[in-house]
Amino acid sequence: MTRDDADWWRQAVVYQVYPRSFADANADGIGDLRGIRSRVPYLRRLGVDAVWLSPFYPSALADGGYDVDDYRDVDPRLGTLDDFDDLVAELHASGIRIIVDIVPNHTSNRHAWFVEALASPRGSAARNRYIFRDGLGEGRTLPPADWTSAFGGPAWEPVGDGQWYLHYFATEQPDLNWDNREVRDDFLTTLRFWSDRGVDGFRIDVAHGLAKRLDDELPDQAALDALPRDGGHPLWDRDEVHEIYAAWRAVFDSYSPPRTAVAEAWVDTPRRPRYASREGLGQAFNFDLLEAPFDAGAFRRIVDANLALASESGSSTTWVLSNHDVVRHATRYGLPEPVDPREKHGAAWLLSGGVHPVLDADGGLRRARAATLFMLGLPGSAYLYQGEELGLHEVADIPPIERQDPAYFRNPGVDVGRDGCRVPIPWRSDGTSFGFGSDGSHLPQPAWFAELSVEAQQDAPDSTLALYRRALELRRDLQGSERLAWSPTEHDDVVRFRRDGGWEVVINFGAASVPLPAGEVLVASGPLPDGLLPAETAAWLRVTSAP
Ligand code: GLC
Ligand code: CA
Repeated sequence: MTRDDADWWRQAVVYQVYPRSFADANADGIGDLRGIRSRVPYLRRLGVDAVWLSPFYPSALADGGYDVDDYRDVDPRLGTLDDFDDLVAELHASGIRIIVDIVPNHTSNRHAWFVEALASPRGSAARNRYIFRDGLGEGRTLPPADWTSAFGGPAWEPVGDGQWYLHYFATEQPDLNWDNREVRDDFLTTLRFWSDRGVDGFRIDVAHGLAKRLDDELPDQAALDALPRDGGHPLWDRDEVHEIYAAWRAVFDSYSPPRTAVAEAWVDTPRRPRYASREGLGQAFNFDLLEAPFDAGAFRRIVDANLALASESGSSTTWVLSNHDVVRHATRYGLPEPVDPREKHGAAWLLSGGVHPVLDADGGLRRARAATLFMLGLPGSAYLYQGEELGLHEVADIPPIERQDPAYFRNPGVDVGRDGCRVPIPWRSDGTSFGFGSDGSHLPQPAWFAELSVEAQQDAPDSTLALYRRALELRRDLQGSERLAWSPTEHDDVVRFRRDGGWEVVINFGAASVPLPAGEVLVASGPLPDGLLPAETAAWLRVTSAP
């Protein structure tokens, strides 16, 4: 890697590490920074360009670390700032960049600011950093509005003196007031703090939620839901949020190469380019594939739409099939019900209701391998989530007592939450916690992890791990411009495109084999018997002829 390449991110493969569940170096059952460092050779061999670390900051883990006590430190259970510096040095020495997660919509309730706010009277400067309101009714014992939090349950919490604070997520995650100058300045300090430590970029949590406008009279939940999200919604995707990012951009650009950022912004698709623009964060997640069913028409429309959006913003597009908030894609594609794209977190709710799904595990994995190979052949950058390279399924049967996600606790009997994709990674096929650490794992691992461990797959040529390694290796060699050209196909279920430099990606979404286009097979998501492309299989081909 050339350290000063300002465009490194445009077509990068970024691997998301969920630190508590990756590797545990000190045998306490919780993954840590030294554990991640010990696995840098694995990441290098996998062939990723960058690692994104989900939060590793001090936290009570009310929301898996997205409840941050201190933005400029490391959770002592995960290590120290020195460990962080060592990790950065090790990654950089291996040619891998590092992205850290910034959580600006809310702090934790243990953050010094919130502790001060609770100890301060209403109307104080300390309370102004958050969103406090007087309760309604006699004694102000009723919430300022009937709003529901993203994790279920009320979004306003009383503090005992007639005032209530807004927490759009868990009770332990009070929302910050971004009209407050100190709040704005402090995040600039945080961005500099990590940039100075060599961090290459940032993933911005709930990027569309910072700017809020709450009038004296608050709408009720139904009215709030009915309001258009056109830049004037009280909570979401307000136009002024981009003023915040313009100030961040100035910080990013004060470094060489400029620091990058990617927005987690669940906004209407046409509104995404603004987050991704050069004046803004520079890149935004595109969750369209993650929310789509395994379907030729859907995939093709999504690719076209997002390449158009990317040229509108001047950014490259991003692709995601899995992350720490949704059901793993091998499982999604194996469930009987198609994904409802209108669900807020896409497939995450599919395992809801306490009903164990009827999972077609093999079919799900076959489709996941095909979809992944298709995705990795697309122009733009790809975000992978730890464990998907092993073909892991969601762990559906975590006992209630072991669950950690507030989305589970706040929705009794309705939502099983996100723990099932956060179970520690199996590195070995035996031993306590399958090589995750040497003394257990903070979430229970299922017995079937043994056959999917890194150890079990690393020398198996047909393994999912081998498929990812091969695709990433080829991708580095083949990488061309950010364009693609669709190739004609004779089957509606087949999607096929060509990249510069004479290579082609083809995927068969259908149930029957189709003829394989001419060309030398570079990699395939499954066996290709008799010169055919079987059902639910993708391949990359080197081609010489005109399309
Ligand atoms: C984002 C994170 C999710 C977290 C939420 C609140 O959606 O990805 O894990 O729970 O923000 O911070
Ligand atoms: Ca540990």
